Amino acid sequence: KNSYRIASIPGDGIGPEVVSATIQVIQKLAKTLGTFDIDFEHIPWGTEYYKQTGRYVSEDYLDSIRQYDAILFGAVGSPDVPDHISLWGLLLALRGPLQLYANVRPVRTFPGTKSPLNTATDGIDWMLVRENSEGEYAGQGGRSHVGQQWEAATEVALFTRVGIERIMRFAFETAQSRPRKLLTVVTKSNSMRNGMVLWDEVAASVAQDFADVKWDKMLVDAMTARMVAKPQSIDTVVGTNLHMDILSDLAAALAGSIGVAPSSNLDPTRKSPSIFEPVHGSAFDIIGKAVANPVATFWSAAEMLVWIGEKDAAAQLMGCVERVCAAGILTPDLGGSSDTQGVVDAVCLEVEKL
Ligand code: NAD
Ligand code: IPM
Ligand code: MN
Repeated sequence: KNSYRIASIPGDGIGPEVVSATIQVIQKLAKTLGTFDIDFEHIPWGTEYYKQTGRYVSEDYLDSIRQYDAILFGAVGSPDVPDHISLWGLLLALRGPLQLYANVRPVRTFPGTKSPLNTATDGIDWMLVRENSEGEYAGQGGRSHVGQQWEAATEVALFTRVGIERIMRFAFETAQSRPRKLLTVVTKSNSMRNGMVLWDEVAASVAQDFADVKWDKMLVDAMTARMVAKPQSIDTVVGTNLHMDILSDLAAALAGSIGVAPSSNLDPTRKSPSIFEPVHGSAFDIIGKAVANPVATFWSAAEMLVWIGEKDAAAQLMGCVERVCAAGILTPDLGGSSDTQGVVDAVCLEVEKL
C-alpha cells in the first residue's frame, strides 16, 4: 500500500477552515478505500507565525518543505499586514524558489453551479495554464527617493526564452491531451513590444511540434470579452503570470463561484514538491462565519491525489463532491444554505458509500 507525507499549510483567514474540511474528507476517503495511507503534517506558517517570529516561514523552510510528497495550502493574507509582505513572505517565497512554473487552473460548471452567462448554454469547461515563475512576479523592480517628491517606482516584468518555452510546451501538451485539442495563447504584444513579442515568437516555434493542436493568439483585453461573449470557443488557454491571475478569477466567477476554483502549482520535472491550493484567498469578509465553500480545496486535493499517483481515488472523490453539489448541499456563494461542515459531512457520507 502506498503511503504519502503531505505538508499542510492552512495559513490565514478561511485557509484553516477549508484545509481542515479537506483533511477530514481525504482521511475518510483513504480509510474507506483502504488502498493508500496519507499523513498530513501541520505547518504553522502564516500571519500568527510572523507576529511571533518576524518571518512568515522558518529559516530552513525550503529544505524542510522538500521532504514532502506534496503541499496542501489554504491561503495567506491578513487585514493587519500589508498584502505584499504576507504574500512575498509565504506563497511567493515558495512558488518561485521551488520553480513551480506551471500553475494549472481548471474551470468547470459543476452540478449545482450555474454560469451567470446565458451564452454558456452547455456550461463551461476550460483549462487555464498560468506561467508561475516570471513576469511581474519575478521579484524585479524597486523604489528610489522614497517619500520624496521625485520618488520613482518600477514593476519590471521579466521573461526568459527558457521560461516561456517550458510553459508553452506544457500548455501544448495539455491541449493535446484534451478532446478538442484547442489552445489560445494570450499576450499583449501590441503595446508590450519586448517580452510579449518573445512570447508570440516562442509560441509559433513550439507549435511546430504539435501539428494536431489547433491554436490561436489573442490579446488579453480581447480575451476578457471573448470569455464572456463566446465561452464555447475556448478550451485550453496559456498566458503570463499576471494575465492568467486576472483571467482565472474572471473564469471562476463565470463558471459559478470562486469558491469552487482549484489550482495546482506544479514542478513538471518533479524535483520539488508541488503546491495544491484553492484559487481564492483569505476572504476577510467571511472569516469565522463557517460558510467558506470547501469545494475549491477538495478539488485541489483531488488534483494532488492525481499528481502523487492516486488517480482512481481522486476520481471517486470528485464523484462524491459532484453528487453532493447536485443534491443542492451548497454554501451561500452558490446560492445554498449549508455551512462548511454541512458540505464536509455530506461528502463524507457519500465517501462511506463507496
Ligand atoms: P478573496 O478570494 O479572499 O475573496 C474575494 C471574494 O470571494 C470575497 O467576497 C470572499 O468572501 C469570496 N470567497 C473567496 N473564497 C471563498 C470561498 N471558499 N467560499 C465563499 N466565498 C469565497 O480575494 P481578496 O479579497 O482579493 O483577498 C483577500 C486576501 O487574501 C488578501 O490578503 C489577498 O492578498 C489574499 N489572497 C491570497 C491568496 C492565496 O493565498 N492563494 C489568493 C488570493 C488572495
Ligand atoms: C493567486 C493569488 C496570488 C497571485 C496572490 C495572493 C499572490 O491571487 O494565487 O491567484 O497573485 O498569484
Ligand atoms: Mn489570484
